Order: sequence, then structure tokens, then C-alpha cells
Amino acid sequence: MIVAPDTTALRNHIPRLKEGSRCVAFVPTMGNLHAGHLALVRQARGCADAVVVSIFVNPMQFSAHEDLNTYPRTLDADIAALESAGVDVVFTPTVKDVYPEGIEAHTAIHVPVLGDALCGKGRPSHFDGVCTVVYKLFDMVKPDVAVFGEKDLQQLLIIKRMVKDLNLAIDIQSGPTQRAADGLALSSRNQYLMQAERAVAPRLWETLKACAAELKTMAGQMDLSILDAAKATLEQEGFAVDYLELRTLSTLTVSSCLSEDCALFVAARLGNTRLIDNIQITAT
Ligand code: PAJ
Repeated sequence: MIVAPDTTALRNHIPRLKEGSRCVAFVPTMGNLHAGHLALVRQARGCADAVVVSIFVNPMQFSAHEDLNTYPRTLDADIAALESAGVDVVFTPTVKDVYPEGIEAHTAIHVPVLGDALCGKGRPSHFDGVCTVVYKLFDMVKPDVAVFGEKDLQQLLIIKRMVKDLNLAIDIQSGPTQRAADGLALSSRNQYLMQAERAVAPRLWETLKACAAELKTMAGQMDLSILDAAKATLEQEGFAVDYLELRTLSTLTVSSCLSEDCALFVAARLGNTRLIDNIQITAT
């Protein structure tokens, strides 16, 4: 496995990876890898001849008050895990490498509508930062396929839309959310949870599952007040709920029926930790 610490090193390796029209799959990450990331890497391995993984904590997707400085960084362990997973190239650029002119006046990619809803509302420039870095990483790695997790479903939908709108010849694939045994979606931020918070955190997924099951039984006559009731229960259990909403997958419009594919999206804070999760519900 090759570790490319900057764009020059990466540029030297990419033509070799692509030799003989070999298919290259790419998994962008911010590191501190867990079983969710590694499942995407396995998926990438299974659908391509060569796999590139990037590890880059992208400052452009963090707001001033967020956890950029404390975001867990575990580069040596990440590199060892990727080596065991049979990755060909790990790209670990520095901030200077990706943003030589800084981020203040950097060009940004904005995906309207999809990027303005849900997490885009509370974190206004977050998805612009995500899209901009993903576009730049795509340009550097030149993958045929890129794999993203359904754990960040809004991010996945936004990236798919960006790729379509900008005519990028990259096949965006998605992998299912990997969970702890108690159902909590794996996330690098879970380690911020205090012991008591970690104990209640699985209630988020249990609540989503219960709401989805109930909505499915309602068919044409959906009573969305069950979402308010679920929110109230979560609040009683100690969550500060940012949103719990049923939205369509096509445009992320708030939905009150299941005439097209939807998902329940939730974001809630436990103490200082913000958790997100979702469950997809296919049209009936
Ligand atoms: P990061 O949070 O490191 O996630 C990297 C990829 O892993 C994303 O596609 C994410 O959806 C996926 N992932 C995270 N937790 C998962 C889980 N429990 N199960 C399955 N997949 C999971 O998402 C980012 O980084 C950044 O925004 C990035 C796309 C790298 C741009 O900076």
C-alpha cells in the first residue's frame, strides 16, 4: 500500500493505478476509521481493480464554533487498518495542499434545495464545504467509482446531485449504515458521548424504526403527529432534537404520504454531541 502525503505524490501514482483501463474506486473520509468506513472500503474493493482512500479533516465544512480542532485524528491506526483492508493508495494531504490560498476566498460549490434543508439549515455552509472538497478530491484521484455511506444520507443525495449537475463521469455508490450491537450508528463523534449519554443514544435509532413501522401501517392516511410525539419522548430522555422529519429522497421536500421514496431524518444533540441518523421508507 502506498501512502501519498501530498498531491504531487498522488499525481505520480494515479496513472499507474489506472494503467490498462483498470477501474479505480475512491472512498473519501476524515479518518478516525471505524467499521462503517471499512465496510465502504470492502465495497469499493469488490467493485473495482484498485482502491484509493483519502484521509482529510476538511476545515471548509466546519463552522467556527464546531469541533475542527478536537476532531479525533488517528492516522497511524487508520493507515494500518487500510493496509489490512487491501487498499492500494491512501491519500493524506495537508490543509495547505488542498487549499494553498486558504479557505476564506475559496470558490465554493453549492447544491441548492438539497443542501439547504435539514442539516443545511443549522449548518449553513457545511455542505458547500463538503461538495467543494469532494469535487477537488475527485479531480485529484480521478476515480471511476466513489462510495459514500447511507449514514449521511443527505450528504449522499447532495453528492449524487453535484455529480449529475456538473456532468462528472463518476459512478456514485452507497453502502448501508453500520451500527453498534445496540443499534447506534457508528460515528467518529460517538466517542464524545459521556457514559450516561452513550447509554441513551441507541434510543434515536429505536425511535426512528418505531416511527417508520407506524407510518408504513398508515398508508394513504398518515398522521404525522406521531413524529411530534416521538420528538417529545426523545426530549424527555435527554435529547435536544434539531429535527425529526419525513422527507422525499428526490428533493428532500417534507412529505405527508408515501407516494414516493422517502426517509425519516433525525438530528439530535446529547450534551455536546450531535447525532444524526435516518431510515429509508420505500413508496407504497
Ligand atoms: P466521514 O465522516 O469520515 O465519513 C466518510 C464516509 O463514511 C462517508 O461516506 C460516511 O457517510 C461514511 N460513514 C460514516 N459512518 C458510517 C457508518 N456508520 N456506516 C456506513 N458508512 C458510514 O463524511 C465525511 O467524512 C466527509 O463529509 C467527507 C465526505 C469525507 C468530505 O470531507
